[in-house]
Amino acid sequence: MREIVPVQLGARSYEVRIGTGLLANAGAEIAPLLQRPRVAVVADETVADLHLEPLRAGLGEIEMVVLRLPPGEATKSWPHFTRTVEWLLDQKVERRDVVVALGGGVIGDLVGFAASVLRRGVRFVQIPTSLLAQVDSSVGGKTGINAPQGKNLIGAFHQPSLVLADLEVLGTLKPRDFLTGYGEVVKYGLLGDAAFFDWLEAHAPAMAAGDIEGRMHAVKRSIEMKAEIVARDETEQGDRALLNLGHTFCHALEAATGYSDRLLHGEGVAIGCALAFELSQRLGLCAQEAPSRVRAHLRAMGMKVDLGDIEGDLPGTEALIALMAQDKKVEEGKLRFILARGIGQAFVTSQVPHEVLAGVLDDALATRRA
Ligand code: GLY
Repeated sequence: MREIVPVQLGARSYEVRIGTGLLANAGAEIAPLLQRPRVAVVADETVADLHLEPLRAGLGEIEMVVLRLPPGEATKSWPHFTRTVEWLLDQKVERRDVVVALGGGVIGDLVGFAASVLRRGVRFVQIPTSLLAQVDSSVGGKTGINAPQGKNLIGAFHQPSLVLADLEVLGTLKPRDFLTGYGEVVKYGLLGDAAFFDWLEAHAPAMAAGDIEGRMHAVKRSIEMKAEIVARDETEQGDRALLNLGHTFCHALEAATGYSDRLLHGEGVAIGCALAFELSQRLGLCAQEAPSRVRAHLRAMGMKVDLGDIEGDLPGTEALIALMAQDKKVEEGKLRFILARGIGQAFVTSQVPHEVLAGVLDDALATRRA
């Protein structure tokens, strides 16, 4: 089972290959990119324990040197970035060599950024091992690390040369980690493809339970949508912002919960999508059925939907709005929102009156007390 989605970016175009057995066939997949039979692989400890030996076997005659980093968001930082770049230099990775990022979004973002600066830029291959990384972070070339001032504030656009999204590796994910990735999958239907959202309503429960053909369809459609938007607007001058549906709320909630496992990123995206549709409805942009349908589907999937689903304290409405104002999407002091005229009809706007936003958050916070 194998499908290819091209990302059309002129000289920087590449393929996202989706399927089963890609790790087992990694040597044949990657060999055409190599000038010599050697790759430098960076993985986190957890992923390395699960997937490094299958990758080694799949690479066959291709030699592999490995750097293992600690798992978790704290790895996306200057110390681990420096360590990665210096390790790559110690391994004598040359300008025409290829670096492999084996892992979730943290490893993909960090290694992509390291590849972007190493010898002024070397090629890299993404082998995403989480659903979230397969459908979002491994595609599109956003790379980087976090700063004390906020997430992803240091980085570069550096497109991979190939992405291998092996659906079999998703089999090792815990249900909560699968569902956090699902937050990004459902986002694609909500932002631009109502028929895909219909399909998810019917098929996502089976997919979450392991249906491999369903996973193929969901991952492929998500990547197709991302590839199409990235090809139109690689550096987010306009339409790429649509991919941030739910993220303005999400980033405020992640900051409020200390980027901890109280709220995983995709869980925040799901809650943020529900809030974005609620806000759209209150602004008269979409029918009441739209937010109800979004919420019903997320509930049916066993996902977090309301602020009441987040354990522990949360700040009040004005403090949450202040956290939103620290988002990268703020321009000239104005918050930018992705709102919707219906399911699959998202658009970007800064025209959101403060009192309507505050009303949505007041009511959402009230669900915590109900
Ligand atoms: N994750 C949003 C983007 O790649 O633009």
